[in-house]
Amino acid sequence: MADRYLHLTGTAPGRFLTRSLGLPQPSPLRRWSLGTPTLDGPLLHLTAGEAAVRGEVGEVLARLGLPVVERADRPAGIVVDATGITSAAGLAALHAALHPVVRSVARNGRIVVLGTAPSPEDHHQAAAQQALEGFVRSLGKEIGRGATVQLVRVVPGAAASAESTLRFLLSPRSAYVSGQVVEVSGAAPDPVADWFAPLTGRTALVTGSARGIGEAVASTLARDGARVVCLDVPRAEEDLVRTADRLGATALPLDITAPDAAERIAAAFPDGLDVLVHNAGITRDRRLANMAADRWASVIDVNLDSVLRTTDALLKAGTLNRGGRIVATASIAGIAGNTGQTNYAASKAGIIGLVRSLAPRAVADHGVTVNAVAPGFIETKMTAAVPLLIREAGRRMNSLSQGGLPVDVAETTAWFAQPASTAVNGQVVRVCGQSLLGA
Ligand SMILES: NC(=O)c1ccc[n+]([C@@H]2O[C@H](COP(=O)([O-])OP(=O)(O)OC[C@H]3O[C@@H](n4cnc5c(N)ncnc54)[C@H](O)[C@@H]3O)[C@@H](O)[C@H]2O)c1
Repeated sequence: MADRYLHLTGTAPGRFLTRSLGLPQPSPLRRWSLGTPTLDGPLLHLTAGEAAVRGEVGEVLARLGLPVVERADRPAGIVVDATGITSAAGLAALHAALHPVVRSVARNGRIVVLGTAPSPEDHHQAAAQQALEGFVRSLGKEIGRGATVQLVRVVPGAAASAESTLRFLLSPRSAYVSGQVVEVSGAAPDPVADWFAPLTGRTALVTGSARGIGEAVASTLARDGARVVCLDVPRAEEDLVRTADRLGATALPLDITAPDAAERIAAAFPDGLDVLVHNAGITRDRRLANMAADRWASVIDVNLDSVLRTTDALLKAGTLNRGGRIVATASIAGIAGNTGQTNYAASKAGIIGLVRSLAPRAVADHGVTVNAVAPGFIETKMTAAVPLLIREAGRRMNSLSQGGLPVDVAETTAWFAQPASTAVNGQVVRVCGQSLLGA
């Protein structure tokens, strides 16, 4: 279903009318395309307080293909090194760095604040570094004009591990990601031969990819060079084959809850699997008082239990190659909760638990990272079926005042999937335009 309001506010009379009525002013987002692969303008590199990672981050920024400057009239992106802020008083430096330039950020611009992990031993440092989180979440809400604001926590001395993350967040690929906190470890990234086709030579499985978000994920991973297998239920085989054919992928008609699902997946990857994307999901909404046990069970089985079973079996069988990536699909419903969705929200919160617990062990034991995307309101057949008023609320109740597109979730998944994202592990990144729900 097209977003007619976004179209209306894109016209001069529509803008005048909606502005006069004090209604939201969504700015059309600039997404990745072959013609617009990068931001459109210079990157302003600032320091707030002691310049703890300035040099190493400067080297990364210099590789992004944009001019990196210390002054600009209209920067496309601003990166602020706030890693050296260790006290409440030191936060003044953050204000001093951004206050004079925040208005100058280009439409669809990007602000990335670099911090470090709050210390368990030093509560002054922890207070100052945690303060950055409230800062970016608030700035994300007020900045407007399609711009986004994130906090990336890096390890001083290993900031180069954040290259894939900075490339993603400082590009049109992250158009619908805002107000997020990403922790990047000091793990050394795998070398990248070609940033435009980082998955060349890698295999990927995307569950639930006959349509919707899964189809976009399969398409984006194929764009990035992966050999993709698309999986969906046998009754969706016609759509599945059409999608797979369009992408030069292989179709695997299979119900992910089938007892032999992991074995059949393993058989489809005789040389091992590099990227496993758990995207298949269902809703069976009812308030708990009206929810029959079968509605509860089917949602938990498809959205959570089958993810646990196949992940365990594929890791145990050694099907996932070292350097592999697991990306699971949560939802903001799993963070905020939703009326009529006790089953769905439980399953999606369960995904977050799975990711956080398994991530350190999967890397230690198998060399595999585990992360989750948590989509907000994404324009798909699933959300087109939502009643008009609820749909409009879902679309507008976020900092970007619009719904996301399946490709926004796909781009986030592709960032996790990259060989260079070794240091991104155990993260849950919301693709929700900074939804007010669960904020
Ligand atoms: N659309 C949104 O706004 C939104 C928001 C948050 C989370 N999500 C999550 O994103 C994922 C994709 O959502 P979507 O909007 O594209 O939904 P969709 O219904 O369009 O697509 C889901 C796909 O999963 C497949 N599937 C369902 N059960 C399966 C099974 N047992 N085995 C194999 N395949 C199965 C379906 O056939 C379908 O093709 C889901 O996990 C969903 O919960 C979506």
